[in-house]
Amino acid sequence: MKLSSRLNKFPVYLFAEIDRKISEMRSRGIKVISFGIGDPDLPTPSGIVTELNEKASDPLNHRYPSYFGMDEFREAASRYLAKRYNVKCCSEDILALIGSKEGIAHISLAYLDSSDIVLVPSPGYPVYYTGTIIADGIPFLLPLKEENGFLPDLSSIPSDVARKAKIFFINYPNNPTGAFANENFRIEIIDFCRKNDILLCSDMAYGEVYFGKKPFSFLSESGDNNNILEFHSLSKPFNMTGWRIGFAAGDKEAIDALGKIKTNIDSGVFQAIQYAGIHALENELDMPSRFAIIYKKRMEKVREGFKYLGLDLRIPDGTFYFWSRVPEGFSSASFADFMLDKYAVVVTPGSGFGEYGEGFFRISTTLPDSDIEEATERFRKKGG
Ligand SMILES: Cc1ncc(COP(=O)(O)O)c(C=O)c1O
Repeated sequence: MKLSSRLNKFPVYLFAEIDRKISEMRSRGIKVISFGIGDPDLPTPSGIVTELNEKASDPLNHRYPSYFGMDEFREAASRYLAKRYNVKCCSEDILALIGSKEGIAHISLAYLDSSDIVLVPSPGYPVYYTGTIIADGIPFLLPLKEENGFLPDLSSIPSDVARKAKIFFINYPNNPTGAFANENFRIEIIDFCRKNDILLCSDMAYGEVYFGKKPFSFLSESGDNNNILEFHSLSKPFNMTGWRIGFAAGDKEAIDALGKIKTNIDSGVFQAIQYAGIHALENELDMPSRFAIIYKKRMEKVREGFKYLGLDLRIPDGTFYFWSRVPEGFSSASFADFMLDKYAVVVTPGSGFGEYGEGFFRISTTLPDSDIEEATERFRKKGG
């Protein structure tokens, strides 16, 4: 049967060849060490697991949950935003998500008509692009350049593009570059979005993964969240990637519109998981900073290891990623290939995050110290 043409518009799956090679090497008994996926290896805090176990055995939680999320979860999320970011967002303007990816992918369906434009950072989390394609929109790529601190240059956006754009995705702390936004940028982009009637979609997946100054939210202290929708995730702060829970918060119309789409696609988050989420947001808030200490130490270790390859990695202010230029003479893909062939080590080619990621690679430090030490030993023995 003929598949939809939108499937052909998805970027080529760059990791297919790498995945094939990894499986082939593993089948030959080679231990492949992966700095690839950003998926915490540490367990979910035990208090969260206990809460799930208790609530999962209550039959009241076995039925369909409410589409927008339980009132208790939305209230806990509202208190969390006030406590951690000093911003105001009432619980009615919050929507539970089956992981923030789900909301990021669906928001375009709520706003785009065919050929509407979405402003998409490149490099960036791939779902901004593919979510736009799914909704028949047109992604307009905004390069995140090192010389601009990996912030998009708003003055480079043509005025007709700005007029036609419906959504602007941003993500600080940033995956894959590790960059943070500054206060000037916050003011400028909110102003830009309001002037052009664009929904600013701020992805805060790494808001709790920082080593120094705490990142800020793009929502407002006063509660004026018009044109701003923020996506929060429990995945990275609490090592809950497999649980699938997050929330969207902000602009009332956007919350209602996204809720309407979701009502017709999914049936919400398992209530026992929402209770576990409430427990995390209320009682486990000291955990993210403990994990950050672990990531920082690992990053120092990884940095030392990569020195044997002649690479001087820069530790960012947050996230668990290094973003670095590939050595002279390599493309993103050929460097990833080289690392796999020579050291049986996986790094992610920057081009997997969009065309402006070419020339870079990403290292994730969500792997045990023993693996980092083993990779370092391989680098030391074999050299660069
Ligand atoms: C930038 C960014 N946003 C969103 C997500 C999705 O997170 P989740 O769906 O687990 O909440 C990820 C996951 O890796 C990410 O890197």
